[in-house]
Amino acid sequence: TRIPVITIDGPTASGKGTIAHRVAEALGWVVLDSGALYRLTALAVQQQGVDPDDEIAVAQVAHDLDVAFQGDRVMLSGIDVASLIRQENIGNLASKIAAYPPLRCALLERQRAFRLAPGLVADGRDMGTVVFPDAPLKIFLEADVRARAERRCKQLKEKGFSANLMRLLEDMRERDARDRTRANAPLVAAPDAKTVDSSALSIDETVNVVLDYWSSLG
Ligand code: C5P
Repeated sequence: TRIPVITIDGPTASGKGTIAHRVAEALGWVVLDSGALYRLTALAVQQQGVDPDDEIAVAQVAHDLDVAFQGDRVMLSGIDVASLIRQENIGNLASKIAAYPPLRCALLERQRAFRLAPGLVADGRDMGTVVFPDAPLKIFLEADVRARAERRCKQLKEKGFSANLMRLLEDMRERDARDRTRANAPLVAAPDAKTVDSSALSIDETVNVVLDYWSSLG
């Protein structure tokens, strides 16, 4: 049998990353933050002065990325860029280039390589629909846009970045609309996904919902 995968897809700031890390920790599994790969590509495009409208050049940057995930550190060509890639301008550029089919194709095998024993928790937009369609458990994590903007605002301020709630709300609506309506791998729940609305749930409660689904598959 294949190595198991739990996919956690959903819109920006729905808590996917936190939930994925906590579930992986509880199970002793590997974790994949696929959004980080899109963000790393965006950062590398910016740093290398590549034209962000050139789909082929952007895919080439992704193909050549030298990345390593080491605990909380995200190394790009040997430099820790974990906090740089969390900035809103990089998130917005990531969302723009994520619509390019050649880029998505360039990142496909890189993502599948994270499927290592004893199991993988993968978070993103298309983990359950495109990258790991055979995953035995697929979660679609929702939360209303206001709750998500407030979480992101708090998160950014904690990291010492400035943040404006109204700006964030607007950016988030725009990014979600783009992610949901793009032709290639849009943000959509897989037909066999369990939808979880975390607006009114704590992190612990959300983690437990996912772990309960997993143990019920027994
Ligand atoms: O999840 P995160 O906000 O870090 O992702 C940044 C952007 O990367 C998203 O807005 C989305 O457009 C893109 N993305 C994607 N497919 C994924 C993960 C992220 O298109 N699996």
